[in-house]
Amino acid sequence: MGKAKVFATHPLFEDARAILDAGCEVEYWAQPERPTSQEILQRVKDKEGLICLLTDRVGDDLLRVAPKLRIVANVAVGYDNVDVPSCSKRGVIATNTPGVLDETTADFAWTLMMAISRRLVEGDMYARSGNWKGWNLDQFCGTDVWGKTLGIIGFGRIGRAMARRAAGFKMHVLYNATKRAPEEVEKELNAEYRELNALLAESDFVTLHVPLNSETRGLLDAPKFFRMKPTAFVINTARGPVIDEAALVHALEAGKIAGAALDVFEQEPFIHPGLKRSNVVMAPHMGSASVETRSKMASMAAHNVAAFFRGQRPPNMLNPEVFKTE
Ligand code: GLV
Repeated sequence: MGKAKVFATHPLFEDARAILDAGCEVEYWAQPERPTSQEILQRVKDKEGLICLLTDRVGDDLLRVAPKLRIVANVAVGYDNVDVPSCSKRGVIATNTPGVLDETTADFAWTLMMAISRRLVEGDMYARSGNWKGWNLDQFCGTDVWGKTLGIIGFGRIGRAMARRAAGFKMHVLYNATKRAPEEVEKELNAEYRELNALLAESDFVTLHVPLNSETRGLLDAPKFFRMKPTAFVINTARGPVIDEAALVHALEAGKIAGAALDVFEQEPFIHPGLKRSNVVMAPHMGSASVETRSKMASMAAHNVAAFFRGQRPPNMLNPEVFKTE
């Protein structure tokens, strides 16, 4: 039996390639531009495995033209780009990369929170501009983070990593989640459950850590911004469409909230022009982007595929019911 044919939509990293190349015949996308949907479709037609990034849509149209496909490994924890029910229907296993990026993403959400509250980006631009005349008492005064109330929406691994960081900043931690955390977790993290509207009304910083799905799309919309304090900031390292971006722009323009720090956008890479304001800090979807973590994510995806073609259970299956030992 020959090696399983796999298409990877990215060259990945050395460690991941070593894992994959040992057991599979892999075609790596090597061009600097990301492949289009058509280019992916063309290459996946005769493949048994696909390794994709969160910007690659894996829908029924792709699965239909790739009848040999057995596994789709997404190099991301979020998998809203993969139609998992269609994968299941067609007997294709889907995997993601949970766990390895929690601390790195929480670090970045914290970075954004600090940057927006302490006006770091404005200060950086000013320092570079050559216009700085020296220290002044009322220059670039921002808002304290320490001692404030942090509202965490979504209390999974990343949300909880945020709560742990908040302890060092003596913050009051509130959280909202579809399922309340066990009492010992609340105690350990010093986090209090709140209904969403109560959390929004009480928090100085609202940070999003939910997956994108039909329940969370547009979760923060105009009425929700209306509930927030005019001094509050919103931080999004989850997925852009969790926020209704037009409503956010309106809330910023109307002074309903004080600012936003965003790593993700509704229609990436398009950025709503109304977000280009001094009380918004923006990043190009880089929450998990540390060398260590991105390498671990790629290796994890590679491991899922390699394990599968060795006849073993891929460790991170999203539809484990599809897996059958032969
Ligand atoms: C990044 O956004 C991820 O979902 O891993």
